[in-house]
Amino acid sequence: MEKIINVVQYGLGAMGSLMVRLASGKANLEVVGAVSASGRYLGVDLGEASGLGKHLGVTVKSSLEQVLEETKADVILDATVSTMTELMPEILPAIRAGLNVISVAEELSYPWERSPDLASELDRAAKEHGVTVLGTGLNPGFLMDLLPLNLSGICGSVTAVRVRRVTDFSVYGQSVMKHIGANLTPEEFERGLQNRSVVLHVGLPESIQMVARGLNWKLDQLKEDRRALVTRTDRLAESIKVQKGRVCGFWQTARGQAKGNTIELEIYGIILPNPSEDEVSPGTWIKIEGDPGINVAISGGICQAGGLGTVTHAVNAIPLVVDAKPGLLTVRELPVASCLP
Ligand SMILES: NC(=O)c1ccc[n+]([C@@H]2O[C@H](COP(=O)([O-])OP(=O)(O)OC[C@H]3O[C@@H](n4cnc5c(N)ncnc54)[C@H](OP(=O)(O)O)[C@@H]3O)[C@@H](O)[C@H]2O)c1
Repeated sequence: MEKIINVVQYGLGAMGSLMVRLASGKANLEVVGAVSASGRYLGVDLGEASGLGKHLGVTVKSSLEQVLEETKADVILDATVSTMTELMPEILPAIRAGLNVISVAEELSYPWERSPDLASELDRAAKEHGVTVLGTGLNPGFLMDLLPLNLSGICGSVTAVRVRRVTDFSVYGQSVMKHIGANLTPEEFERGLQNRSVVLHVGLPESIQMVARGLNWKLDQLKEDRRALVTRTDRLAESIKVQKGRVCGFWQTARGQAKGNTIELEIYGIILPNPSEDEVSPGTWIKIEGDPGINVAISGGICQAGGLGTVTHAVNAIPLVVDAKPGLLTVRELPVASCLP
């Protein structure tokens, strides 16, 4: 019998709850604890808090320390925040307690350029305590970085990587709605971009840097551009109602140049996409220019149902992370995650 891996969930928002529902159905994973720092599920059974529909016999706590007083664990699954600065105080105690860490915080997917000092601190702590830290997800973590890099493995040469993604953002929770300025007026959105309360999709630079690293290209330029998409009809999603004339999404692009080679990533993030109004339809298109050139089109919202792609990529990586060498790793340094039974 394969060993059982004990998992602690950190954060019970949209992604975190889904992580619990998915992980608790996997043969070799056992969800033994959960932290909800906001305290909103304090004392509640995790099965109930995560919407599983049955009790798990695990009570939600407000700190990792409390969880570890009662149980031993191998790994924390984190779905709370996006930035390295926010993430550090959550995961450093876990590392120091000897737990591996998997997080969908976008900046952790490739933190070496944006936050080199924090990345080094995490790497050092992880090695000191013999654990592995991984930032993963669907995007960043797969669609715009790992997948094109893997495709480039059948090319003799590459001069450009271009990925375009049109996706439904209504599947995400409140923090993502704030990030993208959903339901703001166009003027509020512009002000939000200026004062950084609206950050849109986090992770395009991280994906570009990971692809550049994988192709051994040294970036000499990285530029980003973005604008609001405004709806002409009301859109009613689970986590937000967007009124006519307000922001229902965004267009965002990032372009990296490396000695004449190009990495270009473009994303439309839309609350409840409506192709006749938005003039784009959900899908992902990966174009690798080189010898041979490659064009891959993935129609529809890949793995988007409820944010499943993000969560599955994190949960399926658990055994790989537990078995990996200690330190801070990116998805390109791990074996490919495949669906766990
Ligand atoms: N890499 C990817 O592909 C990817 C994809 C989707 C989302 N994400 C990122 O994953 C994160 C979670 O997304 P979501 O849709 O689940 O958001 P969400 O529904 O808003 O949930 C976030 C949860 O995290 C906890 N939390 C928030 N701020 C915290 C803080 N400062 N310290 C500790 N806990 C905090 C809260 O849980 P409690 O109430 O239980 O404390 C909150 O409910 C976001 O940052 C999002 O940008 C990444």
